[in-house]
Amino acid sequence: KEYQHIIASRPVPSVALLTLNRPKALNALSTPLFRDLNAALLEADAEKEIGAIVITGSEKAFAAGADIKELKEKDFAGAYNGDLFAEWSVITKIRKPVIAAVSGYALGGGCELAMMCDMILASPTAVFGQPEINLGVSPGGGGTQRLTHIVGKYRAMELMLSGRNFSAKEAEQWGLVNRIVGEGEGQVVKEAVDLAQNIASKGQIAVQATKEMINAAYELPLTEGVRFERRLFFGLFSTKDKQEGMTAFTEKRKPNWTHS
Ligand code: HXC
Repeated sequence: KEYQHIIASRPVPSVALLTLNRPKALNALSTPLFRDLNAALLEADAEKEIGAIVITGSEKAFAAGADIKELKEKDFAGAYNGDLFAEWSVITKIRKPVIAAVSGYALGGGCELAMMCDMILASPTAVFGQPEINLGVSPGGGGTQRLTHIVGKYRAMELMLSGRNFSAKEAEQWGLVNRIVGEGEGQVVKEAVDLAQNIASKGQIAVQATKEMINAAYELPLTEGVRFERRLFFGLFSTKDKQEGMTAFTEKRKPNWTHS
């Protein structure tokens, strides 16, 4: 499908690649852009052949944040009544794995968008930051919560109170990115698509159930989380993919997943 603010493509049949496409505004995340992104995410989530999704921007900017020109016009009533940023939670409901491929600026809402993804690959040029403090506000897309969970209280305080940017190297040291890929234009997208294709080659029910279990680790106390895992794990024993996977192992051949 064609969108105005993003480009949706299929580099391989099993992977959806969603490219943010507002180059003149460094991919500032306006409400119309988010509506396009959400529609494409839901479409990819529903498409049987697709097993994983990659979100990327341009070489210069993954996304330079929420659209400041749009935010500038909002007061409390406007934000509250319009439920500003309601669009931002759709990505957290997507069941297939979502990988962020980050080059250039991932600032403010751009950093928050990356953190809402399930994995983050960064090119050496990636620059992260939560600079909202410099605009007289705070992060509003989950940054104070997700960044703090990842980098810890003290770094989170420094980063979000000073608003300073941080490099791909720092992000990697602190566990905010899976890895820094090699240099070169397009490399981060290539590696993200390879990773997505690898994941898409597994049984989708097991992949999506595992994603659900890992996300539960952020919501539930350990005993409840382990109970949740065990219930869903037992549930997987009723799938054809479980039968196929274990039979293929004993027959020393590759499994042929049917996602059922
Ligand atoms: C709207 C933006 C924008 C943004 C850049 N642009 N970022 N427009 N919202 N977040 C526009 C600029 O206005 C400019 O348009 C064009 O993109 C190119 O940007 P320049 O500033 O000229 O580029 P450069 O000098 O290379 O500087 C790049 C930059 C800088 C360092 C990334 O653009 C910057 O600081 N951007 C803002 C970063 C930021 O504060 N992000 C947080 C936003 S608040 P014109 O028309 O002038 O050429 C946020 C809240 C989150 O994200 C809440 C989420 C729920």
